[in-house]
Amino acid sequence: MASVPGSGRDSFTSKFGIIAATAGSAIGLGNIWRFPYVAGENGGGAFLFLYLAFVMAIGIVVMLSEFVIGRSAQRNTVGAFLKLAPGKPWFLIGIMGVSAAFMILAFYAAVAGWTLEYLYQSVVNGFAGKSPDELGEMFTAFREGSWRPILWFLIFMVLTASIVISGIQKGIEKYTKILMPLLLVILVILSIRSLTLPGAGEGLRFLFKPDFSKITSRAVLVALGQALFSLSIGMGTLITYGSYIRKNDNLATTVISVSLADTFIAILAGVAIFPAVFAFGIDPAAEEGLVFITLPGIFQKMAGGCIFAPLFFILLAVAALTSTISMLEVVVAYFVEELKMTRRKATIISAVLISILGLFAAGSWGWFENMTLLGNNVFGLLNFTTINILLPVGGFFIVLFVGWFMGKKAVKAEISNEGSLKARFRIVFVFLVRFIAPIAIAIVFLNGLGIIRF
Ligand code: PHE
Repeated sequence: MASVPGSGRDSFTSKFGIIAATAGSAIGLGNIWRFPYVAGENGGGAFLFLYLAFVMAIGIVVMLSEFVIGRSAQRNTVGAFLKLAPGKPWFLIGIMGVSAAFMILAFYAAVAGWTLEYLYQSVVNGFAGKSPDELGEMFTAFREGSWRPILWFLIFMVLTASIVISGIQKGIEKYTKILMPLLLVILVILSIRSLTLPGAGEGLRFLFKPDFSKITSRAVLVALGQALFSLSIGMGTLITYGSYIRKNDNLATTVISVSLADTFIAILAGVAIFPAVFAFGIDPAAEEGLVFITLPGIFQKMAGGCIFAPLFFILLAVAALTSTISMLEVVVAYFVEELKMTRRKATIISAVLISILGLFAAGSWGWFENMTLLGNNVFGLLNFTTINILLPVGGFFIVLFVGWFMGKKAVKAEISNEGSLKARFRIVFVFLVRFIAPIAIAIVFLNGLGIIRF
């Protein structure tokens, strides 16, 4: 395994490897499962518009900031702040990031477990002959079941841990390079099938025609949270990955490629799903079940559906896996470098702790259905608070750190690879990172929580 000369740390070994691993982290359930249903709940096209605006004005800036912090410090999320700002409270951002990774993984792996159940169902032909209503009931019954959602969740945690335990670079770099392009091909085929269903136009209109009367301050915050979540930023995943990027790789072009790929996949997922939603008469705000109900419906209507269905769920599980690995890596890198554990011990301990919390998330409709707060189950609470609160707060402090604390020289050195790249966009970046990004995040956040009113 290659390492950054002189540092003794692992690193990615190729440019494409970095992009595949980072895109592997970014592209996941956030794009294919979460984006369509939060867009459905929050105004469709108008939501898409906000989401795109946030990716461009804030997401790209936060992502580059994380890379700058991680690569210059060569440490995990907490250690990076300790090293760059010794004796200052900035490391608390790192602690918050590790906690966010911990909580997000707990519910994310629950959904990843659902993809395994659906993979199984597609192999045993479990969707055959079911109407959209029956597919809806099937999903509900599965989630309310006692042990199945838990079992699949635990299996997924074991899968994630078994890759992280042996060091991720070789595994991720190798597999994501093959699997991510394959996911794209399948999604394109599904979109085409969905677009040719009768009534597809209505779905596309819903996805692309902005109706700004649907935009509440809460929806704006949800769009920001979704943009950060989908790009894997705001909690230090990319500080951690950035610390494995070689000193001569170009950070900015990586950021652009990954953001474009991630956005493209989210839109493509919308194109695959919304036409089917309208063609089958499903409520576009069908929450977490949307993808698990519509896609099996499309598979039934397409030639070769019995082949594409398992293929799709395999790829969905893989897309989830390349994301869960990156979340676990945040916690493990912290345990290894700051708490001086071996990677093996760090992986086992963190995976076990996360699995305990995750049991409550996975069992939110079954065993633990009565565990609620203000009408939200554990899953809903984790899903909403981590993404709409912890990530914006994390993103805010990350850009403040790079914009105001790190110093222009250090930032310049990092994005220009010590002067060997021209990095002419630097002036724009400095302006965005100092002013636009923090102010925009603060306004959206405070407004979304009703602390200030616009
Ligand atoms: N970006 C991933 C997705 O869209 C989720 C993720 C969030 C991964 C945060 C790592 C860190 O599915």
